[in-house]
Amino acid sequence: MASRWCTFVGLEKLARESAQSSTLFSVLVADPVDPILVDGLRKLGLNVLYKPSISREELLDSIGNYEVLVVRSRTRVDREVLSKAGKLKIIARAGVGLDNIDVDEAKRRGVHVICAPEAPAQSVAELTIGLMIAAARRVVEACERVKRGEWAKVTGIELYGKTLGIVGLGRIGYKVAEIARAMGMKIVAYDVADVRQKAERVNAKIASTLEEILAASDVISLHVPLTKQTYHMISYREFEIAKQGVILVNTSRGAVVDTKALLDALKRGKVSAAALDVLENEPPREPWELELVRHPRVIVTPHVGSQTREAQRRIAVEVLERIKQLLLTRVERAR
Ligand code: 3PG
Repeated sequence: MASRWCTFVGLEKLARESAQSSTLFSVLVADPVDPILVDGLRKLGLNVLYKPSISREELLDSIGNYEVLVVRSRTRVDREVLSKAGKLKIIARAGVGLDNIDVDEAKRRGVHVICAPEAPAQSVAELTIGLMIAAARRVVEACERVKRGEWAKVTGIELYGKTLGIVGLGRIGYKVAEIARAMGMKIVAYDVADVRQKAERVNAKIASTLEEILAASDVISLHVPLTKQTYHMISYREFEIAKQGVILVNTSRGAVVDTKALLDALKRGKVSAAALDVLENEPPREPWELELVRHPRVIVTPHVGSQTREAQRRIAVEVLERIKQLLLTRVERAR
């Protein structure tokens, strides 16, 4: 039987352990991924368990058996999980956001955390633009009317000439800016990083504060990771500063927006429409979250920003490559 399947670089300790052991390295894929990733890992000779809807309890019970864990945003890899993950060497996030992973604790335990930061950007940007148009033209409401048997027009607004405030001019925010620019929108960007060069390329004005971008924008689109600094970054005070009738688009993380404050702003008409791909709890469970998603001027999708065939394929290829780079230089099939 196979006694030695791989030659390792980088993780020397793991390589030594592997060489001495007759077992295969085990990978748990805990969320749905493109088959390219699972097949590719198996072709590398790794022992892969694909359990895309694994429960928290099952994860806690079994994580101790795996060297590699692949997750998306559904699976929380917190201190408790890591404390039971004695063999774990790599957490691969099949996507971008790392807010469901305790990265500091992973580092402290010598666990590598990798992700695919480039792969989903185009898909998320396209959904953002789609949601923005749907909110401005009340597409969902118009569609629902027709389905109910009503043939009645709904009046929307044009986006041409309006100001789009992009909070976070990273990979996704930048692509949103490029498309919105082509649609004739004026772009204002706010970022804590120095994005002057990028802003220049898309002819975006830079706002030096969050307040400035809020006050200037007809549409606000959020593209920041969820961190301690960005948690509830848009709350009651920020909605006060925003323009009357602003449209809010959020395809980043639900908790960047204070749900109760958004609901209040919608009820008062301060926010004319909200288009949300992400929520504080996914799926929503608190009464105010349920009220928000049922609000007539809210369009909501179930965190599908990167859920396209193309993005999932790119993510699978990128994550596979990163795992390969980290673990393997050569795979030898045992005969
Ligand atoms: C991401 O962070 O990659 C996106 O928000 C998509 O998350 P998902 O992989 O859970 O769909």
